Amino acid sequence: MKTTTLSHIAKFEGQHVQLKGWVFNMRSSGKIAFLQFRDGSGTIQVIAEKKSVSDELWADVQKLTIESAVIIDGTVTKHPKKDEYELQLKALEIVNIAQEYPIGKKDHGPDFLLDKRHLWIRSPTQAAILRVRSEILFAFHEFYQKEGFFLTHTPTFTPNSCEGTSDLFEVEYFDRKVYLSQNGQLYLEALAAALGKVYDLNPNFRAEKSKTRRHLTEFWTINPEIAFAGLEEGLRYQEETYKFLATRILERCAKDLALLERDTTTLANTARGDFPRLTHAEAVAKLQKLGSKIGPKDDLGAEDEAILTKQYDRPIFVTNYPKAIKPFYMPSPEGQPDVVINADMLAPEGYGEIVGGGARVSDYATMHERIKKAGLSLDDFDWYLDLRRFGSVPHYGYGIGIERTVRWITGIHHIRETIPFPRMLNRVNP
Ligand code: 4AD
Repeated sequence: MKTTTLSHIAKFEGQHVQLKGWVFNMRSSGKIAFLQFRDGSGTIQVIAEKKSVSDELWADVQKLTIESAVIIDGTVTKHPKKDEYELQLKALEIVNIAQEYPIGKKDHGPDFLLDKRHLWIRSPTQAAILRVRSEILFAFHEFYQKEGFFLTHTPTFTPNSCEGTSDLFEVEYFDRKVYLSQNGQLYLEALAAALGKVYDLNPNFRAEKSKTRRHLTEFWTINPEIAFAGLEEGLRYQEETYKFLATRILERCAKDLALLERDTTTLANTARGDFPRLTHAEAVAKLQKLGSKIGPKDDLGAEDEAILTKQYDRPIFVTNYPKAIKPFYMPSPEGQPDVVINADMLAPEGYGEIVGGGARVSDYATMHERIKKAGLSLDDFDWYLDLRRFGSVPHYGYGIGIERTVRWITGIHHIRETIPFPRMLNRVNP
């Protein structure tokens, strides 16, 4: 008899296997008991018929409660009607009888479930989202490693702000104040000059006061930074990243996406590439036609991104945003001082921005001027100016929002379900 996990169960049809996991639901008629069993990698229905098992085993089955931990043996059979497997129970070892489980079959409100997040993550849909999240992260690593990028890390305690000063978390650092990193980009620029093509995977912190379906105060980003690159290379890499990601997820997460009832049409389109591009000015004109009140110098709000992306069947790039609404480090194209060389990538079906990036000013004098104008400390940014003093080259980078990407891929309404323990304006527990 083999010990296996449910992710491999199809290989064992007709065979006797052992599984270790938990009972997440059960019903019994007195003659036959059905246990819904999970082991983290999947779920299966376990069947025990009173007349075919020993009295002792039948008595043990009756003791089980929701979330009891068990080691079970049985024969793997194909469900008579569905494309699923079942286990005909032969033996049961009780590891723990769970107390009365607080999450029941009735509908609970989101606050209750978030208070019980440490248990809620066991439910089939939440576990499916976390499995897809794992595959997404793995696919990103696979892609960037394949493309010759070096994985690196950037600090969490930082003296400088990267994305504006309005949403910084300040922390006591011995006898001075520092900030939790909003994004590691400035350090990645140094690393790109050292290693050529790099990417980090780091938590980012922003004291966003907004209570929206797409904002967390702690979220994760992958930030590729590419030396000797401009907008074209940047967008090519982004498109290739998401083509690869969509292909991998369709291959590896079909079961979980089905469990989440995700319509995979836009993922299949994404795998084919050809992401439409429009400038900010073109996006504004289109949005105005669609009824938005957006002006030519405004940022796209969540509502605008939703209206715009519902027009498309795959991700889109919006380029050349007004300079006034973007960070100090983005350069302007020749002869267009009011816009910058940048692109946000917006996911279709109303999901909106999932990636934000742009070129970086590489000229020393211009960068010096930009830092001063932004009211940032030239002392704190002196090390960053060194990057423009020594071997400065054009470079491009972008930040991939992990939770925003998980939200779109899984089709989940609220970002709080895309990270194991969400941190938001009103939530730091559990
Ligand atoms: O667009 P952002 O602010 O870009 C930067 O931080 C750049 N320095 C990145 C770079 O060029 N390397 O953030 C990047 C991405 C966004 O596109 C979004 O997906 C995600 O991070 N993001 C958030 N996700 C969840 N909650 C929030 N509050 C987020 N803010 C940004």
